[in-house]
Amino acid sequence: MIKKCLFPVAGYGTRFLPATKAMPKEMLPVVSKPLVQYAVEEAIEGGMSEMAFVTGRGKSAITDHFDFSYELETQIRGTGKEEYLASIRQVLDSATFSFTRQREMKGLGHAIYTAKTLIGSEPFGVILADDLCMNANGVGVMGQMAKLYKQFRCSIVAIMEVPQDQVHKYGVIAGECMKEGLFRVDDMVEKPTQSEAPSNLAIIGRYILTPDIFDIIKDTPPGKNGEVQITDALLKQARDGCVMAYKFQGTRFDCGSIDGFVEATNYVYQNIYLKSEEPG
Ligand code: UTP
Repeated sequence: MIKKCLFPVAGYGTRFLPATKAMPKEMLPVVSKPLVQYAVEEAIEGGMSEMAFVTGRGKSAITDHFDFSYELETQIRGTGKEEYLASIRQVLDSATFSFTRQREMKGLGHAIYTAKTLIGSEPFGVILADDLCMNANGVGVMGQMAKLYKQFRCSIVAIMEVPQDQVHKYGVIAGECMKEGLFRVDDMVEKPTQSEAPSNLAIIGRYILTPDIFDIIKDTPPGKNGEVQITDALLKQARDGCVMAYKFQGTRFDCGSIDGFVEATNYVYQNIYLKSEEPG
């Protein structure tokens, strides 16, 4: 039902400098696959087939990654190395890829607004590739949310419980618990102090948004850190209509931070890479 997924990938990735000086953060590999490919695979698994990217200067490696590479294909055709391209070939065969540019980094809300013409007037997923989500034996987080959308037909944010001393890193929600793990949002604060935080339920980088969000963002003034915050636009949407918050199944790694990135690498190496190398 939801065909489009948006990947805002225009950020500078300053926490990974100097690695991100000339290379996009989203191209950092967790074992041998770049973060952005995990994100696209999650969207495809969730039933989406039209991928839209908001890129910026210095991000052309992402555009190239989702294109055919004649030289490489010709070079390794018929050799044992072809298997290394299997996963990206599968991705390229399963979706279309469109790109637009955010000229100035004015925040996630602004990045999403930049994609208005790519998205049009339909509901869409949003994945922040630096939040790597794994659900070992079940449906991925975007697939879980797409299923919920069929039921509620409103914007949905993925949330997780975080320790109180971490709330300042996230958008934090409060809401009425509808059933286990599902809340109807009535408050939302971007990067609150511990005393400002309405709960310890933090928004992670997975959203389903209804297209009326574009008009709301357009009228949303810059908020925390002078950036146009998607949290502020979602709060208006929640108050005027409905936004759900969903405690997802699975594990999320904050690959925008060094610690989270190393954790994700260890997890994927142990649980995916070594298993795939086992004989038979
Ligand atoms: P972050 O603030 O985590 O990413 O934004 P960053 O700015 O790249 O990282 P640091 O803090 O400098 O290390 C969350 C997501 O929103 C995108 C980023 O690419 C990232 O995926 N983003 C953020 C944009 O696309 N545009 C913006 O103006 C801001």
